[in-house]
Amino acid sequence: MIQTEEMEFAPRVISPENSPEDSDVEVTLRPQTLSEYIGQDKVKENLAVYIEAAKRRCEPLDHVLLYGPPGLGKTTLSGIIAHELGVNFRVTTGPAIEKPGDLVSLLTSLSDNDVLFIDEIHRLSRAVEEILYPALEDRVIDIIIGKGPSARSIRMDLKPFTLIGATTRAGQLSAPLRDRFGVIHRLELYSKEQLTDIVRRSAMILNIPCTTDGAAEIAGRARGTPRIANRLLKRVRDFADIMGNGEITQDIASIALSRLEIDELGLDSLDRRMLEMIIKGYNGGPVGLETLASAIGEESVTLEDVCEPFLMQLGFLGRTPRGRIATKLAYAHLGIKFEGSEKSAPDGQLPLI
Ligand code: ADE
Repeated sequence: MIQTEEMEFAPRVISPENSPEDSDVEVTLRPQTLSEYIGQDKVKENLAVYIEAAKRRCEPLDHVLLYGPPGLGKTTLSGIIAHELGVNFRVTTGPAIEKPGDLVSLLTSLSDNDVLFIDEIHRLSRAVEEILYPALEDRVIDIIIGKGPSARSIRMDLKPFTLIGATTRAGQLSAPLRDRFGVIHRLELYSKEQLTDIVRRSAMILNIPCTTDGAAEIAGRARGTPRIANRLLKRVRDFADIMGNGEITQDIASIALSRLEIDELGLDSLDRRMLEMIIKGYNGGPVGLETLASAIGEESVTLEDVCEPFLMQLGFLGRTPRGRIATKLAYAHLGIKFEGSEKSAPDGQLPLI
């Protein structure tokens, strides 16, 4: 078979990024209430208190920042917050707000206590961010009318509202923006048990017969991410329909996922290439992220946002001041004999920096 460039760079089945084919299914599967939302228990418990308090006082909820790896349900949770507050949910993204005027028209079109959700909020331009500061702090916007020496600024009051910002990279937010969020939560990768519940719930909604073991097999290979679990469920269903009687069992799930080159821990070929390059190309590391990314021909942000959180959670990868290192667990998983010193490849979890 001829390998074209397009095929080589086809989206990974286990990329946590949103893709158009996910959207309709994601909307169907999206829980509407906090009680339907599985996992992130601490975040849910705190939000439930803040939501109830805001409702009792008939005030908007404080501005909320949700951060963490992609695919964990930041948009879903934000929609739930709006639903629980009983207000409108307006959705946009940082790069979609190109000019200050775009943000001004969004903000002035909100009704009392509405939720404005800005995904990828770290990608707002500086000029747009500056409109946001007084809007968040004092509920006003300053609009400049005219140009040059005759330009004047007029101040406009806004209706009370809640901004929910979501980002995969909290470190890239400017300090003044971060400081204006009263509630800041990090979403964590999900446990296998939580993902099993999510897969069972999705299978039920989509009318896919699925045993608990089958759901657990998918969950165990979904790298802690509901979006990936739901995508794998759809792919495995195809195998169940063609190879079996339509029911997703552990055997069918296991065969299907191996055919998709996702191993029993959920690593795909990119994860393995990354670890193999550290081990074989750089003697286990340390190696800088940019060097590593160019060595395997991948973008450094993909490695940092997608591969690293998961590989670090497994204890396969460490971050040191001098670069990334592979742990002994990674050597063992890839079946490569470890020949370095203790220092160059620690056992498992490392202090994170
Ligand atoms: N679908 C995607 N994420 C979910 C979650 N956290 N709970 C329930 N269903 C989901």
